[in-house]
Amino acid sequence: MDGRLQRRVQRYGWDKAAAYYETYWRRQLEPVQSQLLRQASAQPGESVLDVACGTGLITFPVAEQVGSTGSVLGVDLSEGMIQGARAIAATRGIANTRFERMDAEALALPDATFDAALCALGLMYVPDPRRALSEMHRVVKPGGRVVASVWGRRANCGWAEIFPIVDARVRSEVCPMFFQLGNGDALQGELEAAGFADITSERISVRLIYSTADDACGAAFDGGPVALAVSRFDNNVRAQVRDEYLASVQAYREGTGYAIPGEFVVASGRKP
Ligand SMILES: C[S@@+](CC[C@H](N)C(=O)[O-])C[C@H]1O[C@@H](n2cnc3c(N)ncnc32)[C@H](O)[C@@H]1O
Repeated sequence: MDGRLQRRVQRYGWDKAAAYYETYWRRQLEPVQSQLLRQASAQPGESVLDVACGTGLITFPVAEQVGSTGSVLGVDLSEGMIQGARAIAATRGIANTRFERMDAEALALPDATFDAALCALGLMYVPDPRRALSEMHRVVKPGGRVVASVWGRRANCGWAEIFPIVDARVRSEVCPMFFQLGNGDALQGELEAAGFADITSERISVRLIYSTADDACGAAFDGGPVALAVSRFDNNVRAQVRDEYLASVQAYREGTGYAIPGEFVVASGRKP
């Protein structure tokens, strides 16, 4: 698997998804984001790094917690996400956040700078997550914290058929190891290998509620990791993948909509 290709697919895929991301995912991800924020426990005056920040779903709550004497830097591979986050900060008049386009595996940041580094639902997309965690380890101060969340086991994520359905039409290279970090103690193991100590982990289950089939498909195809591949499909293929995806989540149908199971792992550690 070519890491450069995966990075390109991620970068331009999330550029496409950026405009839809919050519409389809903000509410769905609320339980896992809250858990990460609890584990991060950001304090007034702290300096925090948010890796793979997206539109800032974690960045902005943390910015509020660290207050005017603290600051949060959000970094992401996608220019579309970074511009979206900057626009939100400008609209809300938030002065203690900055956003920069940056690869999680190569942070252009000095050593031992941050009190905490966070990565919410980003590591599944990075070709070498251990390298990304090592970078987070490098840039936090001794005693600094890291908290990361990932999707859990494939069998507990009812939407998972999206990947083979899309891959059957195009070699999408979206994220070949997507569910790997959600298995067993995999995420804890990666944190340990990156040099963190005092590791804790929580596994949480949610139901992703979509009130219509259009919403379920919008989240799956427009606001998420397969957006680039799907943008290349013609109307015929789009209709086929939509039908196949809806058939794959048929068991989770509730009224006019869907309640699709999902699972996450949130793990944290400390730099000795
Ligand atoms: C599911 S979104 C999560 C965004 C945000 N952290 C949240 O919780 O809402 C995944 C993000 O990972 C970013 N990403 C993917 N590969 C990356 C990489 N190698 N370095 C930095 N960001 C990356 C994407 O651009 C996208 O914004």
